[in-house]
Amino acid sequence: MGVYPIILTQSKFMHRDHLKYPFEERGLQFGDGVYEVIRIYQGEYYLFEEHIDRLYRSAEAIKLTLPYSKEELKDLLLELMTRNKMNKDGKLYLQATRGSAPRDHIFPKGVLPNIYGYIQELPRNLNNLNNGVKAITRRDARWENCYIKSLNLLPNVLAKQEASENDCYEAILHKDGTVTECSSSNVYLVKNGKIFTHPATNNILHGCVRMAVERFATDLNIEFIEDAFSVEDIAKADELFLSSSTSEVLPIIQVDHTIITDGKPGKVTKMLQAAYEQDAKLTK
Ligand SMILES: Cc1ncc(COP(=O)(O)O)c(C=O)c1O
Repeated sequence: MGVYPIILTQSKFMHRDHLKYPFEERGLQFGDGVYEVIRIYQGEYYLFEEHIDRLYRSAEAIKLTLPYSKEELKDLLLELMTRNKMNKDGKLYLQATRGSAPRDHIFPKGVLPNIYGYIQELPRNLNNLNNGVKAITRRDARWENCYIKSLNLLPNVLAKQEASENDCYEAILHKDGTVTECSSSNVYLVKNGKIFTHPATNNILHGCVRMAVERFATDLNIEFIEDAFSVEDIAKADELFLSSSTSEVLPIIQVDHTIITDGKPGKVTKMLQAAYEQDAKLTK
């Protein structure tokens, strides 16, 4: 994966090899920070406003004050793209932690957040998009504030690793049988032409692509119902799909040992994929 050399750090730009943080860094030691992953198509951020708004919501939720306004941050991120001469498909990783200070659970006083962002190339995975992927189901072992995009991702990492060990792309998470979302994406079930997904409560990340999917569904006159489905419902689903900035709108064709309908991407999913491509100005 091509990495572009110039990173954004503390409102400045530097070569990635020169980035140094003290080992007492709250992101490293406590996971005390928040982050965003923003999709880039042909050198342009997709769903830029939505991601920036969510970063500030996450920061506020953990009482972290970012040292600049949304507009200032957006300008810095646009400059990052220009300085890297990035004009391909890729992603931005952006992280803000509570800074570097002697290790103590209590917030340090007078310490600035550590902020850095970098860009990588990421081609679209057309094979997955056209053919769909497999998933496993696992218990949702996360905390109660999943709407915060926090750096604490251990349960997500463990679930995704289990998916990978089972030759699957994702782990569909459930609380007592009620499906919340996946380890790194939102998940939807289609039944009788209607889309069902967990409501945007504290128990899921409010995905930026999820917001776009709701918008596409409305435009296409497809009912978007924020009503959680269960693990049991999956076997009776017409279609299943997931969404995220890196995966886009991705069909799920098998869950554990259950093949969804005929094991091929469904009609509603394909309509949403087409709407996504149009919205993001993509050509296959
Ligand atoms: C747990 C979780 N849910 C949902 C999503 C999808 O969010 P978005 O559409 O903003 O990429 C992600 C993205 O990384 C995620 O980690």
